[in-house]
Amino acid sequence: MQPVLKIEDLHTHFFTERGEVPAVDGVDLYINPGEILGVVGESGCGKSVTSLSVLKLVPSPPGQIVGGRILLKGRDILPLKDKEMRKIRGDSVAMIFQEPMTSLNPLFTVGQQIIETVRLHRGLARKEARAHGVDMLRKVGIPRPEAIMDEYPHRLSGGMRQRVMIAMAVSCSPELLIADEPTTALDVTIQAQILELIRQLNEEQGTAIMLITHDLGVVAEMCHRVAVMYAGKVVEEGRVRDIFKNPLHPYTRGLIESVPRMNETRERLYSIPGQVPVLSTDMQGCRFAPRCAEVMEVCAQSLPALTLQEEQHHCRCWLHAKEQEDAV
Ligand SMILES: Nc1ncnc2c1ncn2[C@@H]1O[C@H](COP(=O)(O)OP(=O)(O)OP(=O)(O)O)[C@@H](O)[C@H]1O
Ligand SMILES: [Mg+2]
Repeated sequence: MQPVLKIEDLHTHFFTERGEVPAVDGVDLYINPGEILGVVGESGCGKSVTSLSVLKLVPSPPGQIVGGRILLKGRDILPLKDKEMRKIRGDSVAMIFQEPMTSLNPLFTVGQQIIETVRLHRGLARKEARAHGVDMLRKVGIPRPEAIMDEYPHRLSGGMRQRVMIAMAVSCSPELLIADEPTTALDVTIQAQILELIRQLNEEQGTAIMLITHDLGVVAEMCHRVAVMYAGKVVEEGRVRDIFKNPLHPYTRGLIESVPRMNETRERLYSIPGQVPVLSTDMQGCRFAPRCAEVMEVCAQSLPALTLQEEQHHCRCWLHAKEQEDAV
C-alpha cells in the first residue's frame, strides 16, 4: 500500500539572530490511505513546523526546509514550484488550524471564499460552485447555510468559523487533511462536535488525516496510529492500542502518566520533570536524556535510531536499541 504521505528525514531549520534552530530535526512519518495519524508532544517540539513543511508554508525567512523528502502518493513535493504547490494546497492536501481566522479572509463573505476555492480547484461555474458550497456548509452541520454564505467570518462564533473552515478544507475532497489543534480554542461541547465531524470525514470519504493535538484522550478516541515527537524528532510511533498498552519510550510513558485520570486531584497530577531543551544544531545524544529517569551513559553521547520493536511499532531509545539494523 502506498502511503498518502511519507516524510523522510525531514529537516526544517530557522535561521535566527540567536543561531540556527533545528525545529524539525530528522522527522520520519507516514500516513496510509484512510488513516488518522495523531501527532503529539509538548509545546515547541516541532508539530506545527512539520505540518507546515508538508504544504511548504513555513515562513521563509527565517524558516527553510534544509533536508529530507516529502512524498505525496510517492511524488516528492520539495522540488515543486510555487504554482504547482498552490494546486496541491486545498486540492489534494487541505489544512485546518487552531484559529480559523488565520485561514478565513475577514474582507470576504463565507460564500465568496468557498466559491473561490471550489472554482479554483474544481473548475465549477459560479452557480454550481455556490450550490456545492451550500451543500458543504450543510454537511458540516451549519444551520441556514444559504444565509451563512452571505455572512462575514467575524460575525460567526468560534465553533461556526471552525465548521466553515472545515467545509472549505474538504470542499475539494482532499486526500489528506492536516488538522493542527483544530479544537483547542473551542469549548468542550463544540470540541466534541468538530472532532466527530473530522471522524465522519475519515469514515465516509476515506480522507487520510494528520491530527496534531496535545490531548492524548483525543488520540485514544480518534486515531489509528500515533507519532510522539520530542525536540524535533519522532521518538515513538505505532498503532494507538500498542502505544497505550506498551509505551516503550520513557517520554511517551511520561506523557501517558501526565493524563489526568478520573477522580484524580490536580495536586497529584504527574508531569514530566524538567524542560524541553533549547534547540541547537550541536546537540548530541538523545534529546530527552537530561529529563529521563532511565538515562544511561550512552544516551548523552550518541543519538539512538528509530528502530522497529514489534509489528508497526518504532521507538528511538537506547533502552530498546537492540535492532539498530532495522532503522527506518
Ligand atoms: N517563526 C519562527 N522563527 C524562529 N523559530 C521558530 C519559528 N516558528 C517556530 N520556531 C521554532 O520551532 C520550534 C517548533 O515549533 P512548533 O510551532 O512546530 O511547535 P509545536 O510542537 O507546534 O508546539 P505547540 O504545541 O506549542 O503548537 C519552536 O520551539 C521554535 O524554536
Ligand atoms: Mg503547534
